[in-house]
Amino acid sequence: MAASCSRLAVWLLAAAFLPPPASAEDHMVGGSASNGWTLTNYIIGWAEDQTFRVNDTLVFNYPAGNYTVTEVDSQTFRDCYRQGNTIAEWTTGHDVVPLDKTGRRWFFSSLDNHCDLGLKLVVNVVPADGTPAPAAPPAPGAPTPDPVPTTPPPTAPPPVHTPVSPAPAPNAPPPPPTDSSSSDALMNHRKISEAVARAAVVAGAVQALVAGVLLIVAAVLTAPAFAADIVVGDDQGWRPNFDYDKWVDGNEFFVNDTLVFRYAKGQHSVVQATEAGFAACSQANSLGVWTSGDDRVALNTSGQWWFLSGVNGDCSQGMKFNVTVLPEVELSLPPAPAPAPTTPPSPDSSTPVSYAVGGAVAAAGAAVVAAAVLAF
Ligand SMILES: *[C@@H]1O[C@H](CO)[C@@H](O)[C@H](O)[C@H]1NC(C)=O
Ligand SMILES: *[C@@H]1O[C@H](CO)[C@@H](O)[C@H](O)[C@H]1NC(C)=O
Ligand SMILES: *[C@@H]1O[C@H](CO)[C@@H](O)[C@H](O)[C@H]1NC(C)=O
Ligand SMILES: *[C@@H]1O[C@H](CO)[C@@H](O)[C@H](O)[C@H]1NC(C)=O
Ligand SMILES: *[C@@H]1O[C@H](CO)[C@@H](O)[C@H](O)[C@H]1NC(C)=O
Repeated sequence: MAASCSRLAVWLLAAAFLPPPASAEDHMVGGSASNGWTLTNYIIGWAEDQTFRVNDTLVFNYPAGNYTVTEVDSQTFRDCYRQGNTIAEWTTGHDVVPLDKTGRRWFFSSLDNHCDLGLKLVVNVVPADGTPAPAAPPAPGAPTPDPVPTTPPPTAPPPVHTPVSPAPAPNAPPPPPTDSSSSDALMNHRKISEAVARAAVVAGAVQALVAGVLLIVAAVLTAPAFAADIVVGDDQGWRPNFDYDKWVDGNEFFVNDTLVFRYAKGQHSVVQATEAGFAACSQANSLGVWTSGDDRVALNTSGQWWFLSGVNGDCSQGMKFNVTVLPEVELSLPPAPAPAPTTPPSPDSSTPVSYAVGGAVAAAGAAVVAAAVLAF
């Protein structure tokens, strides 16, 4: 049984990390179930271990009339607000929604309290050729990229997830008692040893199962579909004379998203400025400087972030913008009560949407069921 569980864990892990197919994909919302978009079948967090690419589709199957597929804006989604900003609605029971552009899209069923009960979905659509997208080519006449490595940017390293190692092997049976002259005692001892050995096998299997489940939970939590790499300026990259305020208006930024700045190295830079520095196009007291030409800035706190290019003249030619980074969508269990937060209260502090929990619990549940099937 232990071996079966280990194989199962390995198989599930492998499945979780298989590279996505190159061609456009139809995602059956809620899994392969024919009624995946129903309160009984849909599991919040379903989207988290999937990659959604431009030209993929979402396929919502459900009994027509009993649910809707309603696309809304993020605020309406966070509030489960049925009369909020509806972008589109589908009601046929077999609704195919093309994912025709990058970015996040938000859906729920607008009937009754379906959304509060968890019938809601956010997907993050990445470019068809994968993420990150190819770096912008250097501008004509740009100097050859300098091969000398620059100081590593002060971005946070990618989250390191401590591997869950299998629990140590169960303890060996206790040593035989010193008095073994009586054959009865020897018999009893043998029975006890056998019982202990059997218990040890079961305990080992349980430990392997627990380790497997923890690995699966870790896999689910490390591959959130929610956090996004957002390429500043999209295909225009980071350059002068581009309307970054308009670009900011068309995007949303959440904690743990990453801004990707692409430009010809040496021609521009990325400065995380203070509010005063931003107003004055100055990098005085800057909070961070990046110069690689393919700079990744992890937005690890909610609130205002100010950016500009620190190269002469760039800032006054429009290479500046500020973003409001919104707090949570929670991707794990709420943390235990902690000391008062040091970040100022954000304008947006609505109830966290907690949905990795569903995915993790579902994965754990599936693993338990599958292991039970294998074992018995
Ligand atoms: C749809 O809803 C109706 C009543 O609202 C119910 O009687 C019916 O069983 C539902 N159909 C399915 C397939 O859930
Ligand atoms: C998506 O499909 C359309 C036609 O269906 C095609 O013109 C376009 O190039 C595709 N986009 C990507 C990014 O593959
Ligand atoms: C965010 O990242 C910066 C740079 O790596 C780091 O100094 C800071 O402590 C981080 N903040 C939080 C809340 O993780
Ligand atoms: C940028 O900062 C200014 C204040 O300096 C604020 O009024 C504006 O709303 C901010 N823009 C964004 C997109 O957060
Ligand atoms: C951001 O990522 C860190 C590290 O992976 C994680 O601990 C934290 O819960 C995440 N925060 C949010 C709001 O998703």
